[in-house]
Amino acid sequence: VPSVLFDNHGRPLEYLRLAVTDRCNLRCFYCMPEEGIQYLPKQELLTYEEMERLVAIMAGLGVRKVRLTGGEPFVRRDLVPFMSRLSAIPGIEELTLTTNGVLTAPHVPELARMGVKAVNLSLDTLDRARFASITRRDELPRVLDTFYALLAAGIRVKINAVVMDGQNTQDLLPLAELTRELPVDVRFIEEMPFNGGSHAATLPWNHTRIREHLELNLGTLTPVATRPGDTASHYTVAGHQGRLGIIAAYSRTFCGTCNRIRLTAEGGLKTCLYDQGVLDIRALLRSGASDADIVAALTSAFRHRAANGFEAERQRPLHQLSFESMSTIGG
Ligand code: GTP
Ligand code: 5AD
Ligand code: SF4
Repeated sequence: VPSVLFDNHGRPLEYLRLAVTDRCNLRCFYCMPEEGIQYLPKQELLTYEEMERLVAIMAGLGVRKVRLTGGEPFVRRDLVPFMSRLSAIPGIEELTLTTNGVLTAPHVPELARMGVKAVNLSLDTLDRARFASITRRDELPRVLDTFYALLAAGIRVKINAVVMDGQNTQDLLPLAELTRELPVDVRFIEEMPFNGGSHAATLPWNHTRIREHLELNLGTLTPVATRPGDTASHYTVAGHQGRLGIIAAYSRTFCGTCNRIRLTAEGGLKTCLYDQGVLDIRALLRSGASDADIVAALTSAFRHRAANGFEAERQRPLHQLSFESMSTIGG
């Protein structure tokens, strides 16, 4: 009998976002400073064995979908064999990842073989020079190799593009144009005020403006029904093979159905992107906790979950916002 974990607001927790590393091989300016962040020493990361145990326990609590994040997941050694063990855990119906695509292409056939159906690819521009200036690395060709390898392997691709005023707004249409001939989702994300310091309190490119800009140039965007817990609003455009999406990550239109559990690379449990970590699961694991102890700790953590974690964050003055890197949180 599958028992499902619900939070104190009646939301089922079905989706685990597991950060496998805090390291990254790019330096997107909205995520990390040029010199990188102070990386965690290896012994402070959860081991693959610890993560497997947690995923099995969570599968018993109703988690059906696992997304590996980072940092960049492929920066961690032996990721692919780990994924194939995860994919075999009973109850896990969907195993997927969010990647920047720099190291991914050679692994695509193995991902397809283990049954990975979809991959989210972070890509903010198709222009090589702007890619290099946003990410501080000249890696666009390798990212595009990954994109085409995924399509060729029949893995569904969702492109994530963060919309940055004065940086890549001229790239929105070329990215959106990919959907004309290719069966790909292109999702535009409102930039969130992390690790930046200089973020304006009002967002020049919010979800409404993004949608108007797309409609003005491509024609009517017809909304498609979303599943509860989806961050993106999806749209079709007449004649296009793929879909467009808009993620109101800053305006926050989706807290009400949030079904996510987050684990940071060091084993911190987050019940919301904006909490500071509510439980040190690594300490629990390494103190010899039984599966039942872990289930009890998880259940109790989700009984104190904020209804809308971002509301409190938004009320805070700008200089007190959390500027933790997305690379540490796992998105
Ligand atoms: P799907 O499972 O394909 O729907 O992807 P996803 O949106 O869950 O994950 P992805 O890693 O592609 O993240 C897309 C964007 O949504 C990133 O900018 C994330 O940081 C952001 N995001 C994901 N989850 C949350 C959340 O709970 N709150 C907020 N504010 N942003 C989120
Ligand atoms: N705002 C919005 N999205 C962000 N991402 C990283 N930093 C930010 C930010 N400040 C995105 C990445 C990746 C996803 C996991 O999070 O582009 O696609
Ligand atoms: Fe790396 Fe993603 Fe952060 Fe860019 S946004 S530096 S790809 S973790």
